[in-house]
Parts: sequence; structure tokens; C-alpha cells
Amino acid sequence: VDGLQVAIDGPSGSGKGTAAKMLAKEIGLPVLDTGLLYRLIGGLAIERAIALDESESLVALANEMLESVAWTVDGITFDGENWTDRLRSEAVGNAASKVASQPEVRECLLGLQRKIAESGCVMDGRDIGTVVLPGAQAKFFLTASVRERARRRWIQLKEQGGSSLEAVVEELKMRDQRDQERQHAPLLQAEDAIAIDSTTMRVDDVVDRMTGVLERRG
Ligand code: C5P
Repeated sequence: VDGLQVAIDGPSGSGKGTAAKMLAKEIGLPVLDTGLLYRLIGGLAIERAIALDESESLVALANEMLESVAWTVDGITFDGENWTDRLRSEAVGNAASKVASQPEVRECLLGLQRKIAESGCVMDGRDIGTVVLPGAQAKFFLTASVRERARRRWIQLKEQGGSSLEAVVEELKMRDQRDQERQHAPLLQAEDAIAIDSTTMRVDDVVDRMTGVLERRG
């Protein structure tokens, strides 16, 4: 699997993060959840009260982040501190999506993502198959109905004492729309990506489908 690049894209709650981790473990590759990079910038911007459309300050923040970010299969650290749990909230997800609509911010993260993938990687996000790793040997586009995706998010958020299912559906729709309609690197299925609708699938079956594709391709 040396040098193998697997791109997994899809909307929030499609199960791509869990599937990416499980697949990476199974085939013995590192994994990067690129959403965490955008979430970290969003989280830092909130903490420092930087407006989410102030592109110059956000680029400075992104560059600062690139200096002292590190990650493991369990998440992301900044300045030696583990930020993963703090970044899971819907507020940070929304901030991440706003920050991610700034092309200058995306540009900052492009080099890092490509460098990580050089020696082989499973990478999940929104634009991995289309922009970050257009030459990836395998590309998957994971979807699920908006209700099912909201239900999954809601169960996660409930553990932190979160909001109603209806509120999660509405927030998810808004974030989907922003991610799909932005000008730069919108959420889009790559032409050569294999679509998997996970609405009624267990994550194990999603991963089996992916390993099946990889095996057939040798
Ligand atoms: O996947 P996750 O929900 O953690 O991503 C948070 C936000 O970061 C998304 O709504 C999206 O706007 C942005 N993102 C992106 N490109 C990626 C990964 C995430 O624009 N490759």
C-alpha cells in the first residue's frame, strides 16, 4: 500500500470520518480528517474574536496553525494541546464552513495536505478527490439522506447535551448549502469517484465495499 492515496469526500454526517479511520487501520495507512484543520482555524477565530470573513486575519491564523499543528489517528493538537473534543460542536462546524469558503485559507492548507499524502494516506473531506488529490488511486463519495445524517449528528451532540433533532436538520441543511454553493472547491463528487449511499448501511459494510474496490483494483 506504499504511496496509495485514498480520497473520501462527502457531506457532514455521511459517515466518512469513521469509515476513513476504519479503512486506514485495515489497510495500514495513516489517516487525515481534513475537516479538523478547518475546524481548528474556525475554533481559533472564535476564541480570538476574529470575524469569519476577514480573509487577511484568517490567513495569518492559518499560517500560525500550520507552524504548530500535529495530529494522530485520535485527533489534532495545537501548540501541544489537544483540541479535538472542543472542535466537535456545531458552532465550530459552522465557523469552519465559513472560514473554508475563503479561497486564501484553502490555498494555505493545500500544500500541507498534499505533503501528508505523499507517502500514502487515507484522507477525508469535501474536496480531496477533486482538488487536493486529483490523482488519488481510489476516490469515494459518501452520501446519506439529510434526515439520517442529522440523526447521526444529533446522537453525537446529545452526549454533550445538545439541541433538538429538528434544529440539527436545519443547521445541517444550511452547512450543506454553503459547502455546495461556494465558488472555490465546493463539495462535489469527482468524475472518477465511486458513490456510496450509506443511509441504510452499517459503517462496517461501507468499509467492506471500499476494501472490495481496492482489492479488485489490486
Ligand atoms: O467534515 P467536517 O464537518 O469536520 O468539516 C467542517 C467544515 O470544514 C465543512 O463544513 C467544510 O466547510 C469544511 N471543509 C472543507 N474542505 C475539507 C474539509 C472540510 O471545506 N476538505
